Parts: sequence; C-alpha cells; structure tokens
Amino acid sequence: MSNFLRNTWYAVGWSSEITGDLFSRTLLNESILIYRLPDGSPVALDNRCPHRFAPLDCGKLLADGVVQCGYHGLKFDRTGHCIANPMGKGKVPSRTKVRSYPIIERHQLLWIWMGHPDAADPASIPDYSYITDDSLDQANIGNYLRVQANYQLIIDNLMDLTHVGILHEGSLGNESMLAGQLELVESGNDVCANLWMPQSEAPPYLRNRGPIIDQWLDMRWTCPSSLSLNIGGTASGEPIERPSNFNAIHILTPETEYSTHYFYGTHGRLNPDDTIEQMRKLQTHAFLEEDLPMIEKCAAMMGPTQDFWASKPILLESDAAAVRSRRILDRAIAQEAASTCVAHTTE
Ligand code: FES
Ligand SMILES: [Fe+2]
Repeated sequence: MSNFLRNTWYAVGWSSEITGDLFSRTLLNESILIYRLPDGSPVALDNRCPHRFAPLDCGKLLADGVVQCGYHGLKFDRTGHCIANPMGKGKVPSRTKVRSYPIIERHQLLWIWMGHPDAADPASIPDYSYITDDSLDQANIGNYLRVQANYQLIIDNLMDLTHVGILHEGSLGNESMLAGQLELVESGNDVCANLWMPQSEAPPYLRNRGPIIDQWLDMRWTCPSSLSLNIGGTASGEPIERPSNFNAIHILTPETEYSTHYFYGTHGRLNPDDTIEQMRKLQTHAFLEEDLPMIEKCAAMMGPTQDFWASKPILLESDAAAVRSRRILDRAIAQEAASTCVAHTTE
C-alpha cells in the first residue's frame, strides 16, 4: 500500500529542531538530510551517498555549507552535486550527485516538497500565519511525537471530535459534549468540521466561563495533512466571538505507510492566566495518554496493511468530515498517479 501525495508541502521539522548540525528524518519512506547553510537558510538532500550508500548525516558539515560523506569522503554542495573526491586522482564521475528537494521555512516550521520541483509553489504552503514572530510568547510550539500508525488514521481522529466526550472524558471533555451539532463546510482543498455544543458542561480548561457554557471545537483540514483547531466558549447566553484567538496546531507527515511524524502545539490563551507550559502539558497529556494509544491499537487491529476501506468500517454520521477528507485525498493521490508530473527518480 502506498498512499502518499507527492506534489505538496509537508512539514519536515520545527525551525528549532534544525540547528547547526546535520539532521535526518524519513518522509514517505525516504531518508532526507536537512541542514542549514552559514546564512541560516535550510537545505534538504537525499540522505544516501550514491557511492556505497552511507547515510550522509553520519558525515560532516563543513564550514562552507558543504557536506562530506563519513565513509570515503565525497563532498556535496547544497544542490546535491559532488564537488570533490579526496581519493586517488580526485576524479568525480558525472552522475555523482544526490537529489535535492525544495525546502522553505515558514511559521516556525520547515516545509519540504517531495514531488516534482517545478511544481513547488510556496503560495500553497499551509497557512499557520497566526504564529507570527511577534506573538511567540503566546506559542506552545516545537512539540513532536512519532506515531506507529498510518497518517490518515490520525486525520480520522482529528476530524471526528465527538470522541472528545468519551476518549478524553475528564481531561478535555465530558459526556454533555456528545449532544454537539456537527457542521461540515468544504472549500477548495479544505474541509472544516465544526462542532457546536450549546448548553454543555465546561471542560476544565474553560471552567472559568461557568459550569454550563456554549462552546465550540472547529477543525480545519487542509489537504493532505495539515490541521488547525479553533477552540472557544462563552457563558450560556453571552455574545459569542467565534473564532476565538486560541488555536491548536496538528500537522502530520507520513514517515512510512505505517508511521507518522506528528507536529503539534497551541497558539493563544484560553484564559489570561494560562501559561505556555500548562497548554503544553494539557495537549501532550491528551494525545500521548489518550489518543495515541487508541490510534496505535486501532492500527494494530486493522492488520499489517492498515487498509481502511478494505477493512470495511461502519460509517456513522459523525464520520462525515473524516470521510470527506479521505475522499478528497484519495482523489488527489489518484490524479497525481495518473499524471506524469511526479518525480520518482533522482533529479
Ligand atoms: S559511501 Fe560515501 S563516499 Fe563512499
Ligand atoms: Fe483526541
């Protein structure tokens, strides 16, 4: 099973993860080397040396932004071309190069394009512009988890927030949220799953609004795997300012068909006294202790292929947004596979 869209931007790491050293991460089954040039700009190359396939992140980053393989010493520049061979007479065969990938730093994340480089349009990087440099004191970012499950299972989890009343009972949710009204809004490549819960019991993080409040969880999914959740609530009967200025960041990047990089965080404050550390703890607890074990167990129960449709799931009303997202993503993957604009080979 291979269900990856290639002509799209994926988050490969937080800006804070890529410092002055060689760093690697596997995306879409490919090991990618990431580092910064002396001026700070990021570079992404195939992490496999074309000589004897040594991982380049086991080599050295030289002062001029050149990478030297740690096995026999070939040197590669930022474009992936081999510029020096320290052995013998120093001859470099003409096809000695590694693939380079477009990579752009935006909104405290590094975004990589795994498809055809000519199609890489920076304007299509998912919009997390609410994380501005001036608002970093409001940002709980830089959080990362690896999940042993296909990325679409995590999208399913995030696009059906009715699970908050059951799986997160006592931490993020309660049973009164199960009566929420789900609205599905589709625009272009985005699907919004808006859960409106009037006259429901306040969860711990909104308790200062009163015991019974009008609250919402509005999730936006951008194809293929970037999500943003707007959270808010007001005392019942008070004017509603929707959206609130509090957002939860959920960005997923496939590592393999069976594992996912999960970049998460929050931006803004639900209550004036909330600290960034409290937000980090709340979000990490909910995902690490509640969502992640359940998603990984579901993945294991689906068997070795984790093939969703072949597993013949029962579909409930509350699955509408998750299924809509799956249909859009499946269609985009099928269209891409049918086109010739995919780089399968070394450029
Ligand atoms: S494996 Fe890289 S130079 Fe030999
Ligand atoms: Fe959850």
